[in-house]
Amino acid sequence: MSVLKVTDLTKQFGKFTALDGVNLEVREGEVFGFIGPNGAGKSTTIRVLLGILKATAGEATIFGKDVWSDAVEIHKRIAYVPGDVNLWPNLTGGEVIDLFVKLRGGNNKSRREELIKRFELDPSKKCRTYSKGNRQKVALVAAFSSDADLYILDEPTSGLDPLMEQVFQQCVLEAKQAGKSVLLSSHILSEVEKLCDRVGIIRQGKIIETGSLSELRHLTRTNLVVETKTPITGLRELTGVHEVETRDQALAFQVDTEELDTVVKHVSQFGITKLESAPPTLEDLFMRHYEGKGQTGTGAGGLS
Ligand SMILES: Nc1ncnc2c1ncn2[C@@H]1O[C@H](COP(=O)(O)OP(=O)(O)O)[C@@H](O)[C@H]1O
Ligand SMILES: [Mg+2]
Repeated sequence: MSVLKVTDLTKQFGKFTALDGVNLEVREGEVFGFIGPNGAGKSTTIRVLLGILKATAGEATIFGKDVWSDAVEIHKRIAYVPGDVNLWPNLTGGEVIDLFVKLRGGNNKSRREELIKRFELDPSKKCRTYSKGNRQKVALVAAFSSDADLYILDEPTSGLDPLMEQVFQQCVLEAKQAGKSVLLSSHILSEVEKLCDRVGIIRQGKIIETGSLSELRHLTRTNLVVETKTPITGLRELTGVHEVETRDQALAFQVDTEELDTVVKHVSQFGITKLESAPPTLEDLFMRHYEGKGQTGTGAGGLS
């Protein structure tokens, strides 16, 4: 069953088309990653979903209700965290959390206290004195304290340090385990791939791919740097090996992720003395699949 459904959504700002026929579906109980580079249209989509912006064309529903005309009803069951949190400067973090949680009709003090501890937030400080990361924490504590059915998180970890990022990931998994649904936007694939059941990739206002990570895995390449006892031969001839270059004593190259096993086996015959790997980046994926393909694709699918 789908909790959120977007069909052929278009949003224009004057002559500029920010969203161009976006289709998205978040199913009940899943974490859906909404991935795309800056300016792709993630926040615009989310603002339409929240009923802040009116769509130019197309349909968007949450819990089967129209996001524009039934916004009040929908908002009782969703929690939202923006990427850049602005808070009332003269309230303390704790007061803001209480306010948010109350507005949503929840009253779970112990959950609130637990999250404040886990995020190492000092709730007694005035919001004006908080760093970006701390303002982010206030919004996250408020969101995860409330008993929502759908969490809409728009690049929610942009100000968090890596330790807090882990706390955040744990919170998302707990929500999922409790049967909640999550829409999580990010411009970094590796940041969300641990969490997401499925992802949709948006670029220039269009969804270019949707699927589970294993379905998308075939599109990615892993970057390797390898040093061996004896020189590697026959590497360029292997299927799935690209962009081979010599770097000091080592070879640097890219491997289609599905060929990784075969390629590493081949290389290991030469006695590996050093092996570095870097995860595929979203940027790589975009760059490769659009090389020489023009920019006016037909929307979803059709990349492979
Ligand atoms: N209110 C607005 N008026 C005009 N252009 C806008 C407005 N909001 C967003 N845009 C433009 O729409 C595009 C998508 O922006 P946004 O949805 O914020 O991207 P993302 O969240 O993926 O980084 C950008 O080119 C941005 O400049
Ligand atoms: Mg954004």
